[in-house]
Amino acid sequence: MANSTAKLELGGENREYEILEGTVGPDVINISSLYKDTGMFTYDPGFTSTASCESKITYIDGDEGTLLHRGYPIEQLADHGDFLEVCYLLLYGELPTKAQKEDFDYRVTRHTMLHEQMSRFFTGFRRDAHPMAVMCGMVGALSAFYHDSTDISDPHQRMVASIRMIAKMPTIAAMAYKYHIGQPFIYPRNELSYAANFLHMCFAVPCEEYHVNPVLARAMDRIFILHADHEQNASTSTVRLAGSSGANPFACIAAGIACLWGPAHGGANEAALNMLAEIGTVDRIPEYIDRAKDRDDPFRLMGFGHRVYKNYDPRAKIMQKTTHEVLGELGIKDDPQLDVALELERIALTDEYFIEKKLYPNIDFYSGITLRALGFPTTMFTVLFALARTVGWIAQWKEMIEDPNQKIGRPRQLYTGATQRDYVSIANR
Ligand code: SDX
Repeated sequence: MANSTAKLELGGENREYEILEGTVGPDVINISSLYKDTGMFTYDPGFTSTASCESKITYIDGDEGTLLHRGYPIEQLADHGDFLEVCYLLLYGELPTKAQKEDFDYRVTRHTMLHEQMSRFFTGFRRDAHPMAVMCGMVGALSAFYHDSTDISDPHQRMVASIRMIAKMPTIAAMAYKYHIGQPFIYPRNELSYAANFLHMCFAVPCEEYHVNPVLARAMDRIFILHADHEQNASTSTVRLAGSSGANPFACIAAGIACLWGPAHGGANEAALNMLAEIGTVDRIPEYIDRAKDRDDPFRLMGFGHRVYKNYDPRAKIMQKTTHEVLGELGIKDDPQLDVALELERIALTDEYFIEKKLYPNIDFYSGITLRALGFPTTMFTVLFALARTVGWIAQWKEMIEDPNQKIGRPRQLYTGATQRDYVSIANR
């Protein structure tokens, strides 16, 4: 909705650009005609002041530490819902009725198996390959098997692809883990819940019955909810940009997985636990705090800071609570890395540098401790993030495809390279 304008005086000319208002959050200045009007681009590396799209899915207020999915606070969804209910909400925009939830659960459950031929791809990977490398390859390869859900112009195929992605990611992730540790693959079990099925595929072995601990399954399900979607973060923007060219959904999700892998983004949960292990003991924390504050030292406190949250990441609070629940259920009394994490957080939140730069723990700060306690190696942490974020990627991709104003994303640049010059033969160089 446009109600006022922003005035721009440039080259002796005055122009006005409409200001669009959202239902909540910052207004935006519609500058889509700026280049046509002025021959100039805006310049915003890292998109710190750029809204790339209109969306109705997730709202974040970084100053308040608020996160809403279709208007529902993350705290309430984490407390009352389950992950597949949040998937339904993100995809369809409303919480499901009982019948809708049962139908959605049924459809997802019966798409969890992978085409049997895909299991042969794994033998092409080294056993010690990083599981995220395997995920990039396997998810991209889905488009080589599920041709009947790659026509993005067909709403039915878009929904089938969405259900397939949500359903098959746990199976692929569990297979990546089993391959990594040299154990046989475990098939999905239709009688188990989404999270319990995933834990069963990861930790069951053919030699004996494996009973999933319901407290741990609930914790896993909540961790999935916390990672489900997060507005226009780097990997979601990657999925949207890939999808804007008309690429099929499996290829777009593979692009999102590749972007999430970076330590500044989804790779931070693995990096944060490795950092806590490197710090080792509470008495070494000041040395690392000093390094994090030293502009000449590339070291950063992994799991701290956020582009949007300039307050506590609401997911980090719920994650910390889940950490204590899981450690309590497993009878883990003293976890040295948890001690370091709690003391590091206490020091950082009272340190002038972190206060001034508004650096708070983010979702990745505590997740690693929890995931390791659940039995996962650090190399699997970002795989679990990708598993959960798949629904957010798919929901945002679907919203983009269904946007009548959608067009291919094609940013421009500020060019500072050489101006035109003639070729010089090698004899004369
Ligand atoms: C995720 O976007 C999302 O929503 C992402 C995510 C999602 O759900 O999709 O929330 C998931 O990616 C969480 C973030 C995980 N990454 C990390 O924990 C890695 C450590 N954090 C930093 O790399 C950093 O905080 C970022 C990348 C998260 C945010 O970087 P910004 O917004 O580009 O901020 P910046 O790098 O410009 O930092 C501002 C200042 C800088 O100091 P100055 O140059 O102004 O002097 O704060 C400093 C930075 O040096 N700073 C840190 C720091 N993070 C920022 N200093 C020490 N330790 C840190 N962690």
